Amino acid sequence: MGWSDWARDVEVEPSIYAADFSRLGDQLGGLAAAGARVFHFDVGDGHFIPEITIGPIVLASIAPLVRGWSGVLDCHLMVSEPEKHFQAIAEAGGKSVTFHVEVSDDPARTIARARSLGLGVGVAFNPETEVEHAAAAAEGADLVLCMSIHPGYSGQKLMPEAPGRIEQLRSLLPADVRVQVDGGINAETIRAARVAGADLLVAGSAIFWRDDPAAAHADLTDRLEHSRG
Ligand code: DX5
Ligand code: ZN
Repeated sequence: MGWSDWARDVEVEPSIYAADFSRLGDQLGGLAAAGARVFHFDVGDGHFIPEITIGPIVLASIAPLVRGWSGVLDCHLMVSEPEKHFQAIAEAGGKSVTFHVEVSDDPARTIARARSLGLGVGVAFNPETEVEHAAAAAEGADLVLCMSIHPGYSGQKLMPEAPGRIEQLRSLLPADVRVQVDGGINAETIRAARVAGADLLVAGSAIFWRDDPAAAHADLTDRLEHSRG
């Protein structure tokens, strides 16, 4: 089982970090009913990024709901020692883990460790990191995540260089490796990210900070239609 089994060709992934945690189950249920299948779950350790975000306890509480809607939880680990957390994430119901290339001394080993736990796996890279470096490190991964902001929190603006970096990344990867973009994706920017080659489009504030998150998800999905031939 891998990304091709649970994700469609293009996915708009709600980033749970931006949710209203007092109404989390309802908000996710509304999004699932509107067609969302892949939910993005941001783990931050207060070290790799300054912020502490959410972790396995929250993951375990929503995983049965998400599974019941035939959805999956795609976990983005903004942490300094990702491998240490893989098992807890697998046990809590995470479907895949994406670690940052900046903190892996041996990406092949980190990828193999995730696989040994039955997890899908992605490699993320920050705006300062060379695209070539990330693409080379991702051999054997399901996806590569191009950060279009400095990782840390929701509600930032997509960096202008992001579409060019996505395009370069796409050109360096085999066709079966997915390209994910995270940060500043909204109604104005989503098409450019898609045209550049991203097929997994993460959106936090553009979904959860709207009055109607399900309608916002549907609107973002609509905007992708016909945007890439
Ligand atoms: C922040 C996280 C993102 C965040 C995106 O570093 O990795 O997933 O929630 O939020 P928006 O879509 O608002 O930029
Ligand atoms: Zn993220």
